[in-house]
Amino acid sequence: MADTGVLEIILKRIEAVDGGVDSQDVATSLSVDHQVVVGAVKSLQSLGDIILAEQRSSKHWELTGEGQETAEKGSHEARVFSAIPEEGLAQSELMKLPSGKVGFSKAMSNKWIRVDKGHEAGPKVFRMVEKIDDSVQGKLVQIQKGIAADVDEKEKNELKKRKLLTEVTVKSYWITKGPSFSTIITKQEAELTPEMITSGSWKQKSFKPYNFEALGVALDCGHLHPLMKVRTQFRQIFLEMGFTEMPTNNFIESSFWNFDSLFQPQQHPARDQHDTFFLSDPAVSREFPQDYLERVKKVHSEGGFGSQGYKYDWKIEEAQKNILRTHTTAVSARMLYKLAQQGKFTPVKYFSIDRVFRNETLDATHLAEFHQIEGVVADYGLTLGDLMGILHQFFTKLGITKLRFKPAFNPYTEPSMEIFSYHEGLNKWVEVGNSGVFRPEMLLPMGIPEGVSVIAWGLSLERPTMIKYGINNIRELVGHKVNLQMVYDSPICRLDS
Ligand code: PHE
Repeated sequence: MADTGVLEIILKRIEAVDGGVDSQDVATSLSVDHQVVVGAVKSLQSLGDIILAEQRSSKHWELTGEGQETAEKGSHEARVFSAIPEEGLAQSELMKLPSGKVGFSKAMSNKWIRVDKGHEAGPKVFRMVEKIDDSVQGKLVQIQKGIAADVDEKEKNELKKRKLLTEVTVKSYWITKGPSFSTIITKQEAELTPEMITSGSWKQKSFKPYNFEALGVALDCGHLHPLMKVRTQFRQIFLEMGFTEMPTNNFIESSFWNFDSLFQPQQHPARDQHDTFFLSDPAVSREFPQDYLERVKKVHSEGGFGSQGYKYDWKIEEAQKNILRTHTTAVSARMLYKLAQQGKFTPVKYFSIDRVFRNETLDATHLAEFHQIEGVVADYGLTLGDLMGILHQFFTKLGITKLRFKPAFNPYTEPSMEIFSYHEGLNKWVEVGNSGVFRPEMLLPMGIPEGVSVIAWGLSLERPTMIKYGINNIRELVGHKVNLQMVYDSPICRLDS
């Protein structure tokens, strides 16, 4: 609350005049900072309709530092003029004066001086007129005194160009009487108390009206991490397309389901220490569907189902090793095996979005864990065309319409395609995912009927999230360096807009 003295002075001033008063004038006459008056205006406004205050802005001209000097000592050209004696002055001498350069050219164009070149010691400058009228100084003095009525805008702009004047904008309030104007300040009550009711004093009080426009205090509540917000959107897209979510609640997986069931050979480089995290306790899994395990072993070591296999000595010890799953395709394998066990085959559309782990070199876009988004469709007679079609539909829902496919390799799909989309911001094609048609060597040992094809694709959740929220370093999104405020402030995610 501003000093009540200033409040009362303002009210008395308004009472005394017909129209209103300007806050700047009040500040000048009281010799206080304008902010003090503004504070008083705000306080008065909070007391109800005592005053009305309208914001105004006005422009006025002020002398610059150089302008003030000019008002005092005369313009550069006038100073040059008065420095030239009757017998003239060498131009080189004149140029050495503080006002020399500017003053010389102005005085020349004013035709106050002339240059005589025919001198041995170089050109000499002479006065051309008896006396001069330094109008620049005159105008500046007028403006300084606030009596600049006969200096027009064009002339002011000219002085501005010479950096002698500047235009400053002044904001102020125009204060007038309000509907409940009074010069006596009574503080409005904000609360009706039991005491006021029993004593009856409420009758004499004035109450502050309710402010129904006021925003409530923001509720303290939990916030979803951006990755979870984007996951919700992807989940929504899959659900719209009729997909069912797979249970992905096991980070630990056996090598059997993560690799072997997917026809990934046991010597495959991705299986070794460098890419996979192995568990030491419990180091192995021992429960596998025995007959299925035999068929997997056979297809790897001897072939079958029309394939010659990899022809190596498949070892159960390798398949038993527990790991942190390296992809959610392990879950897809489990689900397809389960599907094959149900007797009569029914077409399915499955998806999953969950965490996977890889022993990678960490950098700005890679951590040792990330989330995979995976889609799987199983039905009779699905082709690569169906895969491309469904990918178009899926990515269109993300707002990505330009897609390109590049042949690729996965041990478990044939054909395989990397998915590229045109990034409008980066102006180039960027890889957005991987896909393919699962191999018979993977499906037939499971018991999926011949003639059924399974198409699938996968992408990361982090990449679209980083693009969506403009995060360049993954460490700002995941890990101990995450700024919680970023989590609180990131808006909900709409992928298609
Ligand atoms: N599992 C693959 C990966 O880790 C993604 C993928 C899923 C590829 C399904 C083809 C089919 O990148």
